[in-house]
Amino acid sequence: MRIAIGSDHRGYQIRPRIIEWLQERGYEVIDVGSHSQDPVDYPDIAEAVAMKVSQGEVDRGILLCGTGLGMSIAANKVRGVRAVPCHDDLTAEMSRRHNDANILCLSADLLGERLLFRVIEIWLKTPFEGGRHARRLEKISAIEEEIAQEICSQKKGQDGSETARS
Ligand code: RB5
Repeated sequence: MRIAIGSDHRGYQIRPRIIEWLQERGYEVIDVGSHSQDPVDYPDIAEAVAMKVSQGEVDRGILLCGTGLGMSIAANKVRGVRAVPCHDDLTAEMSRRHNDANILCLSADLLGERLLFRVIEIWLKTPFEGGRHARRLEKISAIEEEIAQEICSQKKGQDGSETARS
């Protein structure tokens, strides 16, 4: 399994340890940074990981920030992404079983190291149940599609009026 990982400055210290842990277990890891302790804006990192997931360059993503919340909000703006902030066994398990989450967002500040690795392990190993849950995910995709088409027709409308003026 290929995994893209990224963090802002809050997750900067723990990220290399997670990368090592993943590689020891046979996962292929793509590290998108950040590459120094200087403060960075979490949406930039979230977008980098989310785009790789959305475009199928990787199977899953892992994002770390202070709470895991900002990363999740930002990553979910990208088409096809189901990013979830998980903070215990149950949220890790259910986000896979029912939501087929493809990006795990973790709090670097609030989770102890033992729990953090436990959450990652559960999240990576738990399969999606499919069935009625797949139908619900299709509805989420349909919302994305509807919005994308709306934007597309708005753009076409703008282009059309510009052509009419010129
Ligand atoms: C950065 O200070 C902090 O806001 C960020 O790491 C994250 O927790 C945002 O949700």
